[in-house]
Amino acid sequence: MRHRKMHLGVFVLGTGNHIAGWRMEGAYDSFQSLTVIQHIARIAERGFFDLFFLGDTLSAGPNDHPSFTARFEPLTMLGALAATTSHIGLGATASTSFNEPFNVARLFASLDHLSSGRAAWNAVTSSNPRAAPNFGRDLPEHDDRYRVAEEFVDVVMGLWDCWDEGAIIANRETGQYIDPAKMKQLNHIGKYFQVRGPLNIGRCPQGRPIILQAGASETGLDLAARTADVVFSVVQDFEEAKQAYSALKDRMPRFGRHPDEIAILPGVMPILGRTRQDAWATLDKLQSFITHTNAASLLSARLGLDVSGFPLDEKVPDLPLPNTSHGFARAMLSKARREGMTWRDLHNLTGAARGHWVIAGTKEDIADTLQAWFEGGAADGFNILPAWFPGAFDGFVDEVVPELQRRGLFRKHYTATTLRGHLGLDMPKNRFF
Ligand SMILES: Cc1cc2nc3c(=O)[nH]c(=O)nc-3n(C[C@H](O)[C@H](O)[C@H](O)COP(=O)(O)O)c2cc1C
Repeated sequence: MRHRKMHLGVFVLGTGNHIAGWRMEGAYDSFQSLTVIQHIARIAERGFFDLFFLGDTLSAGPNDHPSFTARFEPLTMLGALAATTSHIGLGATASTSFNEPFNVARLFASLDHLSSGRAAWNAVTSSNPRAAPNFGRDLPEHDDRYRVAEEFVDVVMGLWDCWDEGAIIANRETGQYIDPAKMKQLNHIGKYFQVRGPLNIGRCPQGRPIILQAGASETGLDLAARTADVVFSVVQDFEEAKQAYSALKDRMPRFGRHPDEIAILPGVMPILGRTRQDAWATLDKLQSFITHTNAASLLSARLGLDVSGFPLDEKVPDLPLPNTSHGFARAMLSKARREGMTWRDLHNLTGAARGHWVIAGTKEDIADTLQAWFEGGAADGFNILPAWFPGAFDGFVDEVVPELQRRGLFRKHYTATTLRGHLGLDMPKNRFF
């Protein structure tokens, strides 16, 4: 009997995670459609996934990934899904650089209530400098963003703790609605935020919504080790994934936490075929759709420099880590160095899975690789990035998931109704009560 099971999330972009996935036959070509996102959520629940995840960026350009250019606001979208799904965790990004903690705490507490305990907040510092002009400010330096984020996350968690369970009495006889002893003010006065509290919504079904994190810089890893429940990693090979895995787990005791309190999910785009040749042919087809204009836009964002004029057949040189994202830049530049890649190769890699890892093969090949990473100390599960929807996701859920189940690696049905339950995490201790 196996006890440890994989956790699976799906990274949802209506037009597919591949920059040109929408050009595949039968693929959805919109991320502005309730029908599309409801269909994707239904597939994810059919596959007993832990998490339906929506990223977010706060700008749009004509050469961006199509699902970055035109998309719904994620919390609004998840509010709609809360009503039409029953088990799957609902996670979304909210930036610590372009929000107020009170608003974020309230949004995710509301989603946690609406979904009966399935909300998750991806706390990102935002690495996209194009978002800043939409808020009339500059993007702060990398480590300054994380200093703000550290305080931001503490305030949000503190606001979620301002209520004890059972605070709403609603006693018709006595007329008492609230037990005031079960509501506390936060009274936070910090360097960046002053927040009195309490929040105007009661204790969450999960105690606190789940915290997701995806930073891989030193400061990002510290924030994750201290506060996150789930971490998405960006890695391109097994050794790198193992290093990323232990770099995070090893630092948790420093923050008084056990390594099992975080699930690390590397991002992966599986390209499935009946044969290996089929899978490679599908990947070739997808790659043939990439235009260097849109790939260059993504790659520039990942590396924090404008690569659009660089000669495509020149080797990628050693570059310093940018002010944008350390995690993506490090994974992509080290792969380029290892494999002697040209700018054209790096464009193609970014166009495929936006800097994430791509595997192509049969359902057995894909299950073998995921199993090796899961059992070899590189992953607690995976954040699946289907190249297009619904076909590539249907394929994963109908072919690879049963293979993982057959091997005892993944659940055959839901055994909990909250995301915290799927992840096997205890209810958090309230700091006030
Ligand atoms: C799976 C995944 C999802 C992410 N989603 C977002 C997102 O929605 N919005 C965003 O601004 N950054 C997103 N990021 C970026 C990171 O959260 C992080 O802010 C960035 O990599 C910079 O942090 P670092 O320098 O510590 O790596 C994501 C990263 C990963 C791996």
